[in-house]
Amino acid sequence: MKTLFNRGRLARPAPSQTPSKQGSGAGQVEARPEYLGVAAARPANMAMSATRTMARPIGLETAVTGLGTGVMCPAARPGTAQGPHRGPGQAQAQDPGTAQDPGTAQDPGTVRAQVAYPELTKPVDMDAAAEFIRLHRRECPEAGDVGLRLREIRSQIDLTGTYQHTSAELAFGARVAWRNSCRCIGRLYWQSLQVRDRRNVDSADDVAAECAVHLRAATNGGRIRPMITVYAPDRPGRPGPRIWNEQIVRYAGYQHPDGTVHGDPRNADLTSLALSLGWQGEGGKFDILPLVISAGSTGGQPRVFGLAHDVVLEVPFSHPRFDWFTELGLRWHAVPVITDMCLEIGGVCYPAAPFNGWYMGAEIGARNLADCDRYNQLPEIAARMGLDRSRDRSLWRDQALVELNVAVLHSFDAAGVTMTDHHTESRRFLTHLAREERAKRICPADWSWIVPPISGSATEVFHRYYDEADLRPNFFRHDRDLPGLHPGPG
Ligand code: ARG
Repeated sequence: MKTLFNRGRLARPAPSQTPSKQGSGAGQVEARPEYLGVAAARPANMAMSATRTMARPIGLETAVTGLGTGVMCPAARPGTAQGPHRGPGQAQAQDPGTAQDPGTAQDPGTVRAQVAYPELTKPVDMDAAAEFIRLHRRECPEAGDVGLRLREIRSQIDLTGTYQHTSAELAFGARVAWRNSCRCIGRLYWQSLQVRDRRNVDSADDVAAECAVHLRAATNGGRIRPMITVYAPDRPGRPGPRIWNEQIVRYAGYQHPDGTVHGDPRNADLTSLALSLGWQGEGGKFDILPLVISAGSTGGQPRVFGLAHDVVLEVPFSHPRFDWFTELGLRWHAVPVITDMCLEIGGVCYPAAPFNGWYMGAEIGARNLADCDRYNQLPEIAARMGLDRSRDRSLWRDQALVELNVAVLHSFDAAGVTMTDHHTESRRFLTHLAREERAKRICPADWSWIVPPISGSATEVFHRYYDEADLRPNFFRHDRDLPGLHPGPG
């Protein structure tokens, strides 16, 4: 059983000052969701990215120091890794000239490639492959004979150092990776995950374009569909593509010289990286960051791709009783598509495999907008509510937190966008646990992530312990678990 400190909430110091409140989207707020992305927000410098259907590169063919070190997923053997963003193998060089928006390039001379590219030479571990194939055939006997398949895989590994999953194995592996994700409370629907097999996609441009397709399909006009897109795997001597963003949609955090951050401080590093790669942010509080992708086709160097404005669904926040709430100019994107975790199935690592479910309100209302080192909205909300902030014991934070969460749930409902609440999700999780028990399976869970960040003890999941087994297939982070990088639950 881990202690609460394992949540890492205290591991990262809060910024010395609260983020500035200027530049909010006040005035744009209305009851309907909006499709607003970078292209819509900045016609002057992002015009090239304004295609309607796909992400487009906006320049830069340099890499930077900073964000590039990390560990690889277990499938790729951490011991051999020097960095998560590994290069070449394929030399399909991109013509920078064709992709560049003439208006966006910043001086590339100031940043230089400093990314380490470990050799990926070790073959896939046959034991890991066999363990997965046995699991698959046990749960899906119609898939065929284990022995035959294992002989096939062994000879593929002998020949190429790796092996190819069948479509059925891939879909099963992705769903079970979700089922095994011990930090996720929303696993009841693991079997409904839609799997998009894009293992043939490994260029940065195509990865970006497919991310946009994923986001649109998963958003589904507000009726969100759990979905994963699996890109090319790591192969010996030929690493798959990497998406450097934490999610497809993230808000920029602009670091000021005095240490304060305007926007989302969580994304300050990625924002600096994107800026150094040629992206030009508008300096707003909710600017959508471009995708940062590296691949063999870019020689392993990261490039930025703006998301088309009509691909990103956002919800502006209002409160059912407080009319002033819209003046705060708060909003959030509809779909959390995680992009910085690799999918490991049977010893094979898929380093780019964006996946999404739908939001639980508290993720936004009790973390993203409330944490002191995120948007830190509680003082402002409490002030507007007229609460006594001179004493902790007035519980002004607690009252403001509840009303912020009311606003988040209310606004997603009003916008017709799927969102769950922490009480419903706690119940569903216990239903999932019971089902897994009936199926005679272990359901690993990390208490410190499963218990919601608001009203913990008012939810059933608080009042028990869980098995913490580390099962495969699973999702692993590349570098986010390194000290200093997003240590806590997201
Ligand atoms: N907590 C993250 C965020 O606020 C999202 C993590 C995944 N959440 C989910 N409901 N699938 O953006």
